This record gives sequence, C-alpha cells and structure tokens, in this order.
Amino acid sequence: MRPSSSVLATALLLFGGAIAGCSGKSSSSCLDASIVAHSGQPTGKEVVYNNITMYISKPDSKGSRTKAREGTAVLYLTDVFGIVLPENKLLADSFARAGYLTIAPDLFAGDPAPGDLNVPGFNTTDFLARHNTTTTDPIIASTIAYLRTHLNVSRIAAPGYCFGGRYAFRFLAADRGANGIDVGYAAHPSLLETSEIGAIAGPVAVAAADGDNIFTAEARAQAEAVLVDVGQPYQVSLYSQTPHGFAVRANLSDPGQKWAKEQAFLQAVRWFDRFFVDSQ
Ligand SMILES: *[C@@H]1O[C@H](CO)[C@@H](O)[C@H](O)[C@H]1NC(C)=O
Ligand SMILES: *[C@@H]1O[C@H](CO)[C@@H](O)[C@H](O)[C@H]1NC(C)=O
Ligand SMILES: *[C@@H]1O[C@H](CO)[C@@H](O)[C@H](O)[C@H]1NC(C)=O
Ligand SMILES: *[C@@H]1O[C@H](CO)[C@@H](O)[C@H](O)[C@H]1NC(C)=O
Ligand SMILES: *[C@@H]1O[C@H](CO)[C@@H](O)[C@H](O)[C@H]1NC(C)=O
Repeated sequence: MRPSSSVLATALLLFGGAIAGCSGKSSSSCLDASIVAHSGQPTGKEVVYNNITMYISKPDSKGSRTKAREGTAVLYLTDVFGIVLPENKLLADSFARAGYLTIAPDLFAGDPAPGDLNVPGFNTTDFLARHNTTTTDPIIASTIAYLRTHLNVSRIAAPGYCFGGRYAFRFLAADRGANGIDVGYAAHPSLLETSEIGAIAGPVAVAAADGDNIFTAEARAQAEAVLVDVGQPYQVSLYSQTPHGFAVRANLSDPGQKWAKEQAFLQAVRWFDRFFVDSQ
C-alpha cells in the first residue's frame, strides 16, 4: 500500500523540523551518514613512535563534538590491508569528524596484505602465521602507551575490522589493566577465539555480515551466547546482503552495502558515545 499524500504531508510536518534542525546546525555537532568519507584525500598524517608507523587524524579542536570527547581516543585496528588502504585512512578521518582523536597503527610493520589477496605469490596462511598475536599485541600495546603518555588520553575505544576485530576483544581482557582499552567494537572479526570473547572485562559491539564466510552464522551464535554469559554490555547487529569486509570495503555501487557500511560506522560512534559522552 502506498501512503496517501496527506500521510506524507503529516510526516513531513512531523519530521521536517528534525531534519532541518540537523542540517541547519554546524556539522561539528551533528551525526549523520554524511560524516562517513568514502573517497577523497585522507586528512591525517603519519608519525613514527617506537618504530611503529601510526596514522593520526585529529578532530576539529574547536568543535563541540571534540570538546565533549576530551581525554578520549579511538584506536582504529585495521583489516589485513593496513593503513595503506585508503578506505582505512578515510574511516579514521570519519571518526575524527565525529569528534574523536583517532590513531591507526601499522599492525603489519610495513608488510600489509596486497589489495587483491589472489595475486600470485601472496600466501595468506604464511601472512597470518607471520602476523600472529605475538607480533601484533606489542604494536597495539605501544600505541596505547603512546596515546596515554604522549597524547594525554585516559579512555580508549577500539573499532577493529576483520583482522583487527579480534584485537578489540583481546585488549578488553581484564588482565590488560591500564595497557588495555575501555570500549570495543568489531566488524566482521576474523580468527576470534571463544576464550577471547569470554575474557572481556568491558563493553563490546559487533557489526556482522550475513554473507560472512569467516564470522559465520554459527560463529556469531556462539559469540552471542558467550556475550550473554559474560554479562558486559554488548550489541550485536546483523546486516543483510553484506559480505565479509563490508564495513570497510563495501561495494558502493550497491545501495544496500553502502547503507550498511555507513550504519556500521554510526553504530560504532554511538556505541563509544554511550560510554564516553555524558549527555548525548
Ligand atoms: C589532559 O586531559 C585532561 C582531561 O582528561 C585535562 O583536564 C587536562 O587539562 C589535559 N592536560 C593537558 C596537558 O592537555
Ligand atoms: C623498524 O621496523 C621496520 C619495519 O617497519 C623493520 O624493518 C626494522 O628492522 C625495525 N627497526 C628496528 C630497530 O626495530
Ligand atoms: C602457503 O603456505 C603454507 C604454509 O607455509 C603452505 O603449507 C602452503 O602450501 C602454501 N600455499 C601455497 C599455495 O603456496
Ligand atoms: C609469530 O610470528 C613470528 C614472526 O613474525 C615468528 O617468529 C613466531 O614464531 C610466530 N609465533 C607463532 C606462535 O607462530
Ligand atoms: C557492485 O554492485 C553493483 C550493483 O549491485 C553490481 O552491479 C556489481 O557487480 C557489484 N560489483 C562487484 C565487484 O561485486
């Protein structure tokens, strides 16, 4: 059934004000999908600390969103494509536009996976064996130390994508203490172990793809059961007709995937705001 024109007119009267109110305000106080950059030049810069290259994107220092998030940071944990992938830099910039000081360490020490995993000579098994928890944990720990000691950050939220998603859980573990993070988020995580979910001591949100061949329906159901048991705040959202990787590398020609990528980003920001921003 199509809505009648009078229903539409009423809807416009009811919601028109809210829409105008959002677009009328400065973008620094408004959160909508336009905050997500899909293309264009990244605006952050790279610094090197402890021999780790980190991409840093700073929020508008005068913005009201930034002021409400003082003392916090977003630790962006990439997929296997690392910080050389433009989509990763642009999402880091998007978190900065949402008011968060954002830092994305090079998790692969200059050795990220190629944009096309099927190129001859690239061996995913070898790659993942090289970039294991023993090599990756210290990179993230150093980045957290940099945030706390050099950038005066006291509370950290980590969104992790695919490969990085597992580490959002790992750094929520109770035994990390001050070397850990405060809030986690994982989009289509890979290699995530049940014991790592069970060990979290802080809130975590998950954005899952229904077409994921890695974080499958079975893995998701198991993760949910553990999250319910653990008793920390959580949110699990399942996005329809999406493949593994959509929250970073969505097919932007597919309106459903583009929407899902934007919504998964907004999910992360709202999740972090829930714990970091007093009045939203
Ligand atoms: C560090 O952050 C706290 C808030 O978390 C703020 O009160 C303080 O002024 C900051 N100090 C510096 C040197 O930026
Ligand atoms: C610094 O990191 C690079 C890889 O990014 C590595 O090749 C080099 O050996 C490292 N240097 C030291 C002193 O650890
Ligand atoms: C990839 O590396 C693994 C482990 O080293 C090896 O067993 C496998 O045969 C390699 N695959 C290809 C296609 O070379
Ligand atoms: C982890 O990777 C490093 C090399 O990057 C390797 O030396 C080490 O043996 C690996 N550890 C495990 C448990 O596979
Ligand atoms: C991207 O989506 C468009 C529209 O649905 C589709 O025609 C195209 O084949 C997709 N591209 C890839 C690489 O899947």
